[in-house]
Amino acid sequence: MVKIGIFDSGIGGLSILREIAKLRLGIEMFYFADSLNNPYGQKDDSFVIARCEFIVETLEAKGANLIVVACNTATAIAIDHLREKYPHLVFVGVEPYINVINQRPELKTRRGVVLATPLTGNSKRFKALKERLDPNNLLDVFTPIHLAKLIEDNFFNKSHAFEFDVKKELLGLSNDYDYLILGCTHYPLIKPQLLSFLKGEMISPCPMVAMRVKNLLLGKFGMTEGDASATNFAFYQSGVSSDFKTLNIDEVFI
Ligand code: DGL
Repeated sequence: MVKIGIFDSGIGGLSILREIAKLRLGIEMFYFADSLNNPYGQKDDSFVIARCEFIVETLEAKGANLIVVACNTATAIAIDHLREKYPHLVFVGVEPYINVINQRPELKTRRGVVLATPLTGNSKRFKALKERLDPNNLLDVFTPIHLAKLIEDNFFNKSHAFEFDVKKELLGLSNDYDYLILGCTHYPLIKPQLLSFLKGEMISPCPMVAMRVKNLLLGKFGMTEGDASATNFAFYQSGVSSDFKTLNIDEVFI
């Protein structure tokens, strides 16, 4: 069975794993949540790169040769380096889906904002991407400081103050946007909460990343399409688990 590795600075990349699981590819998925070191958005580049190398080597040792960098921050900081250092592995990254304004031109006459972590928003890669895909600067950018960490800490056990704290993180974000581009993989995990007080359309790149994985598996990896279920995955969380353990996706996303 084909094995793939997925990682994030924490549980955010589960938003991509969930989309891959929906495609019922019948693959084995190993997910590494680096929760002990979350958020990457407040670390320096060399720390993030060192963690990415360690995680990639851990996932490779599990037999994965396609690795999804399911974190915008890690993609912005480390994916070029990973591709260079591990040329025998295939990497799929995730970036804020700015290109949606070119793929859906009707959005250009509406108000949009990219939500991202401060490290992603300030990265050279993000700035170059935005300049290339949004040369007329139609999109605003909003970078809540603690939102990813808040989602991280409340994913398995939500505190009573969670929704209040989320609102606090988004103070200063106007509610006039027609659409919001979710530029951090943690954010789609709280889409229902976001929709309870923001009226814009939430746009996430996660389904497209999952399709990219599928196309690579069918192409480069010679997999044949089948109708297999993939409801289980192996999950490791630094600072919490001592090894990968099997989780059922329907139990994680109740
Ligand atoms: N899920 C990560 C991302 O997409 C969270 C960022 C962080 O750890 O700062 O960027």
